[in-house]
Amino acid sequence: MSTNQATNQETAIGSVEEFDQNWQERKETKYNHWVKGAPKNQIQLAFRSHWKLFKEILKDRPMKDCLEVGCGRGNISSYFADNGSDCTLLDTSASVLEIAKEIYASNDHKAAFIEANALDMPFGDNSFDVVVSIGLLEHFEDIKTPILEQIRVLRPGGTFLGYIVPERPENVQKYYGWFNKILKFVAGVFTSKENTPPPKTDIYRSDFGSERYLPILEGQPVTDIEVTGMYPMPMISHSPEFPFSLLPKPLEWALTRIFECVLWSREKLYGKTLYRGNPWACKEELGQAFLVTFRKAQ
Ligand SMILES: C[S@@+](CC[C@H](N)C(=O)[O-])C[C@H]1O[C@@H](n2cnc3c(N)ncnc32)[C@H](O)[C@@H]1O
Repeated sequence: MSTNQATNQETAIGSVEEFDQNWQERKETKYNHWVKGAPKNQIQLAFRSHWKLFKEILKDRPMKDCLEVGCGRGNISSYFADNGSDCTLLDTSASVLEIAKEIYASNDHKAAFIEANALDMPFGDNSFDVVVSIGLLEHFEDIKTPILEQIRVLRPGGTFLGYIVPERPENVQKYYGWFNKILKFVAGVFTSKENTPPPKTDIYRSDFGSERYLPILEGQPVTDIEVTGMYPMPMISHSPEFPFSLLPKPLEWALTRIFECVLWSREKLYGKTLYRGNPWACKEELGQAFLVTFRKAQ
Protein backbone atom coordinates (compact mmCIF):
# COMPACT_ATOMS: atom_id res chain seq x y z
CA MET A 1 0.00 0.00 0.00
CA SER A 2 2.78 2.42 0.77
CA THR A 3 6.48 2.36 0.26
CA ASN A 4 7.50 4.53 3.17
CA GLN A 5 6.88 3.69 6.79
CA ALA A 6 4.74 5.88 9.00
CA THR A 7 7.56 6.42 11.44
CA ASN A 8 5.99 8.29 14.34
CA GLN A 9 2.46 6.89 14.34
CA GLU A 10 0.68 3.67 13.62
CA THR A 11 -1.80 5.27 11.27
CA ALA A 12 -0.27 7.97 9.10
CA ILE A 13 -1.97 11.30 9.73
CA GLY A 14 0.14 13.65 7.72
CA SER A 15 3.72 12.75 8.74
CA VAL A 16 3.53 15.87 10.89
CA GLU A 17 6.84 15.49 12.75
CA GLU A 18 8.76 14.40 9.67
CA PHE A 19 7.56 17.43 7.70
CA ASP A 20 8.46 19.78 10.53
CA GLN A 21 11.97 18.34 10.69
CA ASN A 22 12.48 18.73 6.93
CA TRP A 23 11.15 22.31 7.05
CA GLN A 24 13.71 23.12 9.75
CA GLU A 25 16.73 21.43 8.20
CA ARG A 26 16.64 21.78 4.43
CA LYS A 27 17.78 24.86 2.56
CA GLU A 28 15.31 23.99 -0.22
CA THR A 29 12.50 25.03 2.07
CA LYS A 30 13.47 28.70 1.59
CA TYR A 31 12.67 28.57 -2.14
CA ASN A 32 9.95 30.94 -3.23
CA HIS A 33 7.87 29.15 -5.85
CA TRP A 34 5.76 32.18 -6.79
CA VAL A 35 6.98 34.66 -9.38
CA LYS A 36 5.17 37.49 -11.12
CA GLY A 37 6.94 37.32 -14.52
CA ALA A 38 8.40 34.38 -16.41
CA PRO A 39 9.12 31.32 -14.24
CA LYS A 40 12.83 30.92 -13.56
CA ASN A 41 12.80 27.24 -12.68
CA GLN A 42 10.78 24.08 -13.16
CA ILE A 43 8.95 24.39 -9.84
CA GLN A 44 7.87 27.95 -10.48
CA LEU A 45 6.62 26.72 -13.86
CA ALA A 46 4.77 23.87 -12.13
CA PHE A 47 2.95 26.18 -9.72
CA ARG A 48 2.19 28.64 -12.53
CA SER A 49 0.70 25.74 -14.49
CA HIS A 50 -1.34 24.49 -11.51
CA TRP A 51 -2.70 27.99 -11.10
CA LYS A 52 -3.70 28.31 -14.79
CA LEU A 53 -5.72 25.10 -14.55
CA PHE A 54 -7.28 26.05 -11.20
CA LYS A 55 -8.22 29.47 -12.52
CA GLU A 56 -9.92 27.85 -15.48
CA ILE A 57 -11.92 25.59 -13.14
CA LEU A 58 -12.81 28.55 -10.90
CA LYS A 59 -13.87 30.96 -13.62
CA ASP A 60 -17.50 31.95 -12.93
CA ARG A 61 -17.23 30.53 -9.39
CA PRO A 62 -16.72 32.43 -6.11
CA MET A 63 -13.11 32.65 -4.95
CA LYS A 64 -12.99 35.48 -2.44
CA ASP A 65 -12.16 33.51 0.71
CA CYS A 66 -9.59 30.78 0.09
CA LEU A 67 -8.14 28.26 2.50
CA GLU A 68 -4.97 26.27 1.77
CA VAL A 69 -4.74 23.20 3.99
CA GLY A 70 -1.21 21.86 4.59
CA CYS A 71 0.05 25.09 3.05
CA GLY A 72 3.81 24.68 3.53
CA ARG A 73 5.18 27.91 2.09
CA GLY A 74 1.77 28.70 0.57
CA ASN A 75 2.96 28.53 -3.01
CA ILE A 76 -0.43 28.16 -4.64
CA SER A 77 -2.03 30.62 -2.23
CA SER A 78 0.47 33.22 -3.46
CA TYR A 79 -1.32 33.04 -6.80
CA PHE A 80 -4.73 33.36 -5.14
CA ALA A 81 -3.50 36.29 -3.02
CA ASP A 82 -1.97 38.01 -6.03
CA ASN A 83 -5.29 37.58 -7.83
CA GLY A 84 -7.15 39.37 -5.02
CA SER A 85 -8.44 36.51 -2.85
CA ASP A 86 -8.35 36.69 0.95
CA CYS A 87 -6.11 33.75 1.82
CA THR A 88 -5.90 31.66 4.97
CA LEU A 89 -2.89 29.33 5.24
CA LEU A 90 -3.08 26.39 7.62
CA ASP A 91 -0.29 23.98 8.56
CA THR A 92 0.77 21.94 11.60
CA SER A 93 4.38 23.10 11.23
CA ALA A 94 5.18 26.34 13.05
CA SER A 95 8.57 26.32 11.28
CA VAL A 96 7.09 26.43 7.81
CA LEU A 97 4.52 29.04 8.76
CA GLU A 98 7.42 31.33 9.75
CA ILE A 99 9.04 30.71 6.34
CA ALA A 100 5.69 31.40 4.64
CA LYS A 101 5.29 34.69 6.51
CA GLU A 102 8.73 35.84 5.30
CA ILE A 103 7.96 34.83 1.71
CA TYR A 104 4.59 36.61 1.77
CA ALA A 105 6.16 39.76 3.18
CA SER A 106 8.86 39.72 0.49
CA ASN A 107 6.23 39.27 -2.26
CA ASP A 108 3.99 41.95 -0.71
CA HIS A 109 1.13 39.45 -0.31
CA LYS A 110 -1.25 39.31 2.63
CA ALA A 111 -2.64 36.17 4.32
CA ALA A 112 -3.74 34.79 7.68
CA PHE A 113 -1.42 32.06 9.02
CA ILE A 114 -2.94 29.39 11.23
CA GLU A 115 -1.06 26.64 13.07
CA ALA A 116 -3.61 23.83 13.26
CA ASN A 117 -4.39 20.29 12.17
CA ALA A 118 -6.23 19.46 8.94
CA LEU A 119 -8.23 16.86 10.86
CA ASP A 120 -9.85 19.43 13.14
CA MET A 121 -9.71 22.94 11.72
CA PRO A 122 -10.58 25.99 13.85
CA PHE A 123 -13.15 27.36 11.39
CA GLY A 124 -16.93 27.35 11.39
CA ASP A 125 -19.00 25.41 8.86
CA ASN A 126 -19.41 27.07 5.44
CA SER A 127 -16.48 29.52 5.82
CA PHE A 128 -14.60 29.43 2.49
CA ASP A 129 -15.29 29.74 -1.25
CA VAL A 130 -12.26 27.60 -2.13
CA VAL A 131 -10.45 24.95 -0.13
CA VAL A 132 -7.25 23.84 -1.81
CA SER A 133 -4.54 21.40 -0.83
CA ILE A 134 -1.37 20.57 -2.74
CA GLY A 135 0.53 17.47 -1.72
CA LEU A 136 -1.37 16.88 1.54
CA LEU A 137 -3.89 14.06 1.23
CA GLU A 138 -1.42 11.37 0.14
CA HIS A 139 0.20 11.64 3.58
CA PHE A 140 -2.90 10.20 5.30
CA GLU A 141 -3.91 6.56 5.46
CA ASP A 142 -7.45 7.59 6.36
CA ILE A 143 -8.22 10.12 3.63
CA LYS A 144 -11.91 10.36 4.48
CA THR A 145 -11.50 12.41 7.68
CA PRO A 146 -9.52 15.31 6.16
CA ILE A 147 -11.76 15.37 3.07
CA LEU A 148 -14.97 15.57 5.13
CA GLU A 149 -13.40 18.28 7.27
CA GLN A 150 -12.63 20.28 4.11
CA ILE A 151 -16.20 19.82 2.84
CA ARG A 152 -17.47 21.06 6.23
CA VAL A 153 -15.66 24.41 5.98
CA LEU A 154 -16.58 24.97 2.31
CA ARG A 155 -19.51 27.26 1.57
CA PRO A 156 -22.34 25.83 -0.55
CA GLY A 157 -21.26 26.38 -4.16
CA GLY A 158 -17.62 26.53 -3.04
CA THR A 159 -14.87 24.53 -4.75
CA PHE A 160 -12.61 21.81 -3.41
CA LEU A 161 -9.27 21.40 -5.20
CA GLY A 162 -7.27 18.40 -3.96
CA TYR A 163 -3.95 17.98 -5.79
CA ILE A 164 -2.56 14.60 -4.82
CA VAL A 165 0.97 13.30 -5.43
CA PRO A 166 0.77 9.53 -5.01
CA GLU A 167 3.69 7.15 -4.69
CA ARG A 168 3.65 5.97 -8.30
CA PRO A 169 6.87 4.66 -9.83
CA GLU A 170 5.17 4.11 -13.19
CA ASN A 171 4.40 7.77 -13.93
CA VAL A 172 6.27 10.07 -16.34
CA GLN A 173 9.22 10.15 -13.95
CA LYS A 174 10.18 6.56 -14.74
CA TYR A 175 11.61 7.61 -18.14
CA TYR A 176 14.04 10.03 -16.48
CA GLY A 177 15.25 8.03 -13.46
CA TRP A 178 18.59 7.32 -15.19
CA PHE A 179 19.14 11.03 -15.83
CA ASN A 180 18.47 11.99 -12.22
CA LYS A 181 20.89 9.27 -11.09
CA ILE A 182 23.65 10.83 -13.20
CA LEU A 183 22.85 14.27 -11.76
CA LYS A 184 22.98 12.84 -8.24
CA PHE A 185 26.37 11.32 -8.93
CA VAL A 186 27.74 14.56 -10.42
CA ALA A 187 26.33 16.63 -7.52
CA GLY A 188 27.98 14.22 -5.06
CA VAL A 189 31.38 14.66 -6.74
CA PHE A 190 31.14 18.46 -6.48
CA THR A 191 29.84 18.63 -2.91
CA SER A 192 32.40 18.65 -0.13
CA LYS A 193 31.76 16.52 2.99
CA GLU A 194 31.19 19.62 5.19
CA ASN A 195 28.52 20.94 2.81
CA THR A 196 26.60 17.67 2.55
CA PRO A 197 23.10 18.34 3.95
CA PRO A 198 21.57 15.92 6.50
CA PRO A 199 19.56 13.10 4.90
CA LYS A 200 15.92 13.93 4.21
CA THR A 201 13.46 12.62 6.75
CA ASP A 202 11.34 9.81 5.33
CA ILE A 203 7.71 10.77 4.80
CA TYR A 204 4.72 8.46 4.47
CA ARG A 205 3.08 8.63 1.04
CA SER A 206 0.22 6.43 -0.13
CA ASP A 207 -0.17 5.10 -3.64
CA PHE A 208 -3.96 5.67 -3.63
CA GLY A 209 -5.32 6.76 -7.00
CA SER A 210 -8.62 8.53 -7.63
CA GLU A 211 -10.45 5.19 -7.31
CA ARG A 212 -9.80 5.44 -3.54
CA TYR A 213 -10.99 9.05 -3.35
CA LEU A 214 -14.20 8.98 -5.39
CA PRO A 215 -16.14 6.46 -3.22
CA ILE A 216 -15.64 8.78 -0.24
CA LEU A 217 -17.69 11.41 -2.03
CA GLU A 218 -20.70 9.15 -2.51
CA GLY A 219 -23.56 10.37 -0.34
CA GLN A 220 -21.77 13.65 0.48
CA PRO A 221 -23.31 17.04 -0.38
CA VAL A 222 -21.10 17.56 -3.44
CA THR A 223 -21.61 18.10 -7.18
CA ASP A 224 -19.49 18.60 -10.32
CA ILE A 225 -16.93 15.95 -9.35
CA GLU A 226 -14.00 15.86 -11.79
CA VAL A 227 -10.64 14.08 -11.88
CA THR A 228 -7.63 14.65 -14.09
CA GLY A 229 -3.97 13.74 -14.11
CA MET A 230 -1.65 16.74 -13.82
CA TYR A 231 2.01 17.58 -14.34
CA PRO A 232 3.01 15.50 -17.39
CA MET A 233 6.68 16.56 -17.03
CA PRO A 234 9.50 14.89 -15.12
CA MET A 235 11.29 16.51 -12.22
CA ILE A 236 14.88 16.87 -13.36
CA SER A 237 17.10 17.12 -10.31
CA HIS A 238 19.83 15.41 -8.34
CA SER A 239 17.23 15.35 -5.56
CA PRO A 240 13.68 15.17 -6.99
CA GLU A 241 12.02 13.96 -3.79
CA PHE A 242 10.39 16.37 -1.28
CA PRO A 243 11.65 18.96 -0.53
CA PHE A 244 12.74 19.26 -4.11
CA SER A 245 16.25 20.60 -4.91
CA LEU A 246 16.88 22.91 -7.83
CA LEU A 247 19.74 22.70 -10.33
CA PRO A 248 22.17 25.61 -10.89
CA LYS A 249 20.28 28.69 -12.14
CA PRO A 250 21.30 28.64 -15.86
CA LEU A 251 20.34 24.97 -16.12
CA GLU A 252 16.99 25.61 -14.48
CA TRP A 253 16.35 28.53 -16.78
CA ALA A 254 17.13 26.46 -19.90
CA LEU A 255 15.07 23.50 -18.67
CA THR A 256 12.11 25.76 -17.96
CA ARG A 257 12.17 27.14 -21.51
CA ILE A 258 12.29 23.56 -22.88
CA PHE A 259 9.32 22.55 -20.71
CA GLU A 260 7.42 25.61 -21.90
CA CYS A 261 8.02 24.57 -25.52
CA VAL A 262 6.79 21.06 -24.75
CA LEU A 263 3.64 22.45 -23.13
CA TRP A 264 3.01 24.76 -26.08
CA SER A 265 3.34 21.78 -28.46
CA ARG A 266 1.06 19.63 -26.31
CA GLU A 267 -1.59 22.32 -26.41
CA LYS A 268 -1.35 22.70 -30.20
CA LEU A 269 -1.29 18.96 -30.88
CA TYR A 270 -3.62 17.52 -28.26
CA GLY A 271 -5.46 20.52 -26.79
CA LYS A 272 -8.89 19.29 -27.88
CA THR A 273 -8.47 15.93 -26.14
CA LEU A 274 -7.12 17.28 -22.84
CA TYR A 275 -9.10 18.17 -19.72
CA ARG A 276 -10.27 21.76 -20.25
CA GLY A 277 -7.86 21.96 -23.20
CA ASN A 278 -5.03 22.48 -20.74
CA PRO A 279 -1.58 21.05 -21.60
CA TRP A 280 -0.77 20.62 -17.90
CA ALA A 281 -3.57 18.04 -17.72
CA CYS A 282 -2.84 14.43 -18.67
CA LYS A 283 -3.85 10.85 -18.01
CA GLU A 284 -3.89 10.13 -14.29
CA GLU A 285 -1.40 7.28 -14.54
CA LEU A 286 1.12 9.41 -16.47
CA GLY A 287 1.13 12.57 -14.34
CA GLN A 288 3.27 13.36 -11.33
CA ALA A 289 -0.03 14.11 -9.61
CA PHE A 290 -3.79 14.07 -10.06
CA LEU A 291 -6.54 16.48 -9.15
CA VAL A 292 -9.87 15.71 -7.52
CA THR A 293 -12.22 18.67 -7.69
CA PHE A 294 -15.89 19.18 -6.82
CA ARG A 295 -18.32 21.79 -5.54
CA LYS A 296 -20.24 21.72 -2.30
CA ALA A 297 -23.94 21.38 -3.12
CA GLN A 298 -25.98 24.61 -2.84
C1 LIG B 1 4.23 18.22 0.72
S1 LIG B 1 3.95 19.54 1.81
C2 LIG B 1 3.08 20.60 0.71
C3 LIG B 1 3.20 22.03 1.05
C4 LIG B 1 2.48 23.01 0.13
N1 LIG B 1 1.07 22.71 0.01
C5 LIG B 1 3.13 23.13 -1.22
O1 LIG B 1 2.39 23.22 -2.21
O2 LIG B 1 4.34 23.20 -1.32
C6 LIG B 1 2.68 18.99 2.92
C7 LIG B 1 2.39 19.95 4.04
O3 LIG B 1 1.30 19.45 4.81
C8 LIG B 1 1.56 19.70 6.19
N2 LIG B 1 0.79 18.75 6.97
C9 LIG B 1 1.01 17.42 7.13
N3 LIG B 1 0.07 16.88 7.92
C10 LIG B 1 -0.77 17.88 8.28
C11 LIG B 1 -1.93 17.93 9.07
N4 LIG B 1 -2.40 16.84 9.68
N5 LIG B 1 -2.55 19.13 9.21
C12 LIG B 1 -2.08 20.24 8.59
N6 LIG B 1 -0.97 20.24 7.83
C13 LIG B 1 -0.32 19.07 7.67
C14 LIG B 1 3.06 19.54 6.33
O4 LIG B 1 3.58 20.21 7.47
C15 LIG B 1 3.54 20.16 5.02
O5 LIG B 1 3.78 21.54 5.17
